[in-house]
Amino acid sequence: MTAPFAPNSVHARDIAYVVHHQTDIAAYRETGGTLMARGEGVYVYDEGGKKYLEAMAGLWCASLGFSEKRLAEAAYKQMLQLPYYHHFFAKGNLPSVELAERVLALAPVPMSKVLFSCSGSEANDTAIKLVWYYHNAIGKPKKKKIIGRVRGYHGNTVAAVSVSGQQAMHVDFDVPLPGFRHTESPNYYRGHTDGETEEQFATRMAAALEQLILDEGPDTVAAFFGEPVQGAGGAITPPATYWEKMQAVLRKYDVLLVADEVICGFGRTGNVWGCQTYGIKPDMLSCAKALSASYQPISALLVNEKIYQAMLGESKKIGSFAHGFTYAAHPVPCAVAIETLKIYEERKIFDHVREVSPVMQGGLKSTEDHPLVGNARGVGLIAGVELMADKKTRTPFPAEAKAGALVERTCLEAGLIVRAIGDRIAFTPPLIMTEDNLREMVALFRKGLDAAYPTLKPYLPG
Ligand SMILES: Cc1ncc(COP(=O)(O)O)c(C=O)c1O
Repeated sequence: MTAPFAPNSVHARDIAYVVHHQTDIAAYRETGGTLMARGEGVYVYDEGGKKYLEAMAGLWCASLGFSEKRLAEAAYKQMLQLPYYHHFFAKGNLPSVELAERVLALAPVPMSKVLFSCSGSEANDTAIKLVWYYHNAIGKPKKKKIIGRVRGYHGNTVAAVSVSGQQAMHVDFDVPLPGFRHTESPNYYRGHTDGETEEQFATRMAAALEQLILDEGPDTVAAFFGEPVQGAGGAITPPATYWEKMQAVLRKYDVLLVADEVICGFGRTGNVWGCQTYGIKPDMLSCAKALSASYQPISALLVNEKIYQAMLGESKKIGSFAHGFTYAAHPVPCAVAIETLKIYEERKIFDHVREVSPVMQGGLKSTEDHPLVGNARGVGLIAGVELMADKKTRTPFPAEAKAGALVERTCLEAGLIVRAIGDRIAFTPPLIMTEDNLREMVALFRKGLDAAYPTLKPYLPG
C-alpha cells in the first residue's frame, strides 16, 4: 500500500501511534513503511499479501526462518509448565541451567559462567559494567577506558551505544559517555591504499590501535570490544591476519577482549562462532539473536574464570552481585533457545552453512560485473556488497545520490529484503536457505540493481 493511506487503515494507525526505530520519522509520516503480517520458511508477507525473500533474516537474526513450529511448541510447553521465574535473590529456574550448560559446552575458549539478559545491548552493557567491576576488584581502578571501533555496533543502551562507533547514533543523544574511544574500521576494500595488501592493511590497523592505547596511557585502557565480522557497520569481514595482530596488541597492554558474537554466533560465519573462524580468544563473549533463532528475546554473556573469580571476590566483600533484570533468564526464551540449539545440532545447520555459502558468496561476487557494484566480500552466510560510482578509482557515489537507499528500495520492490548501510548492501539470510533460495536471492538482487541503474547512471564515469 502506498501513501496517502485511508483513515483507519493499519498504515494510518501505525503512523499515528508507533515510533519506528532507526527510521527517518519525519519522512515516515508521509511514506509509511512495510508492515509484515506473516512468515513462511525464508519468506515474509506484508499486510497486503506481497511476498519477500528475507535476505537479512530480519535483523541478522531469524536463523531458522519464520515458521519453525518446534520453537512455538517449546514456548507453549514452557508457558504451561512455568511461564515466568526470575534470577534474583538466590532464585532461578530449570531451563536457564540447561541452557547455560549447553552454551558453555559450545564456547570457543574455556568459559566459566553465563549471565543471561534479554538483548544484545544488555549483554554488552553487562560486559562493560563487568570490565569496570573487574578492574576495581583487582585493584586497578584507573584502568577503565573502553575501546570500540568506528562503525562497530554493540547496541543502543547508553553504554553499548557508547562503545559502538556509529556516529549517527551518537548525535544529540549526549553519547558516547566519557571514557569510550574508537579505533579504525577494518574495511580493506574502502580503506587500503594503492598496492597495500590485506596483511599490510591489518598491520596498519593494529598499529593504529597500539597508538591509541599509548596516547591514552596503557594503565587507563581496560578493554576492547569487537565483532568478529562488523555487522551493522556494513557486513565487513576483517582482512587476513587482522585479529591475530589486534590480539597481540591487546595482550601486550593487558587489555581485556570482549567478542561481540551477537550476529556471528551460532553459525553465521560457518562455524559456531566468529571467534573460531578468526582465531579470537576473548575474555568475555556476548551472544543473542540466533541463540533463540530470535523467536524469543534472550542474550547471554559468557565470562571466563578470571572475570568470575573477581566477581566472586566482590560478592564476598559487598555481600551480593548487585546486578540483573526482571526478565533475565526468563524460562520461556531459555526453553526456546534450548530447542533452537537442538535443531542446530540435529539438522547440522552449521555444516549446512558451510555447504551452501559458496553459492551465496560466489553469486554475489559475480555481481561485480554489474556497473554499480565495486566489490562483494563475505564469509559463511554474511556478506557486504559495495556500490561504487567508479570502480577503477574506488570513487564512491556522492551522498546526494543515496545509491544504497535506492538499491534497497528497488530490491524491496522486486521482492527482496536487503539492508543498505550507506552504499554497502548487507546480506545475512536465514541459515536454512537452500542453494535454490540463494540463487533466487542473487537473481532478485540483480533485478534490484538493474532497476536502480538508470537513476544512478549519470554518476558513473563516461
Ligand atoms: C553485533 C551486535 N551487538 C549488539 C547488538 C544489539 O543487540 P539488541 O538489538 O538485541 O540489543 C546488535 C544488534 O544488531 C549487534 O548487531
